[in-house]
Amino acid sequence: MRIVSGIQPTGDLHLGNWLGAIRQWVRLQDEAAATGGEALYFLADLHAITLPIEPARLAANTREMTAALLACGIDPERSILFNQARVPQHAELAWILFCTARVGWLNRMTQFKDKTGRNREGASVGLYAYPVLQAADVLLYNATHVPVGDDQRQHLELARDIAEKFNSDRGVALFTLPEPLIGATAARVMSLRDGRAKMSKSDPSDMSRINLTDSDDAIAQKVRKARTDAEPLPAELAGLAERPEALNLVTLMAALDDRTAQQVLGDHAGEGFGRFKPRLADRLITVLAPIRDRFLHTREDADAIDRVLESGAERARSLAIPTLAAAYAATGLQAQGR
Ligand code: TRP
Repeated sequence: MRIVSGIQPTGDLHLGNWLGAIRQWVRLQDEAAATGGEALYFLADLHAITLPIEPARLAANTREMTAALLACGIDPERSILFNQARVPQHAELAWILFCTARVGWLNRMTQFKDKTGRNREGASVGLYAYPVLQAADVLLYNATHVPVGDDQRQHLELARDIAEKFNSDRGVALFTLPEPLIGATAARVMSLRDGRAKMSKSDPSDMSRINLTDSDDAIAQKVRKARTDAEPLPAELAGLAERPEALNLVTLMAALDDRTAQQVLGDHAGEGFGRFKPRLADRLITVLAPIRDRFLHTREDADAIDRVLESGAERARSLAIPTLAAAYAATGLQAQGR
């Protein structure tokens, strides 16, 4: 089992990222270690520059997000934790794979269309090529499993197509076809103000999300003010079908306790939100307070964070170098003695 996944250093981590992705990374790190495999996790700083970002902001976000991952339980002794830019083989392999991927394939990527909207002509070439760099990220390490959110399913399919085409064009068995792990345990956490929109750091209302830096009081207040309805909780999940805000709070409670939403309803059916919300706030505070305290402490020491990234990058490079050399050789590029 070789787990590989990346996250863009977008700044503050919130509850949605944690329950949606990071918690699964932590679990997979344990699983990989238990089965003699390994987990590689990286900050996708090369992906982050596909959209405009201030250099100082990017550097700060990369360290912040690293501190957040450490606070959430990514253990740099057991997992290989680094940022892409420290491992130049990502960009080098991406170039070769640009020549394997077809324009027709990239034209079908829905995320590019969603992100660019009507301004496609003004988008960076990097944003268009983004999924090919992502393919390089995982193929470089012969990832067997790639934990991602549902929105990345198409990018993973593309990585498999690229791997297959490269192997067959060159008559080699170089790249492993990666399997997506679309989290069974990952919860889709929605905005506290609108049960149909994903919890997101780009929502202008801070009340819509719980940040990993929020104080206990802020958490309690955000839950108290979360949008809901006046009905009590039903006994069956079907009763929440048309109540997205109510469903979101029940889903959250379930995710915190690793249970299903139906199990939560089994315990709380008949309760109104006046009763349910304080219980949810209590659970959130219990689970998030230690992560927040570790995060606030860890992010103070930039040098220590850089040391973690540097030593992770060193281990990543030693895995990446042979794969890249084989890709060069299979392509007929002469690069010996570099
Ligand atoms: N595109 C991913 C996201 O936005 C981040 C990412 C970059 C990634 N490279 C990756 C995820 C490789 C998995 C594997 O979520």
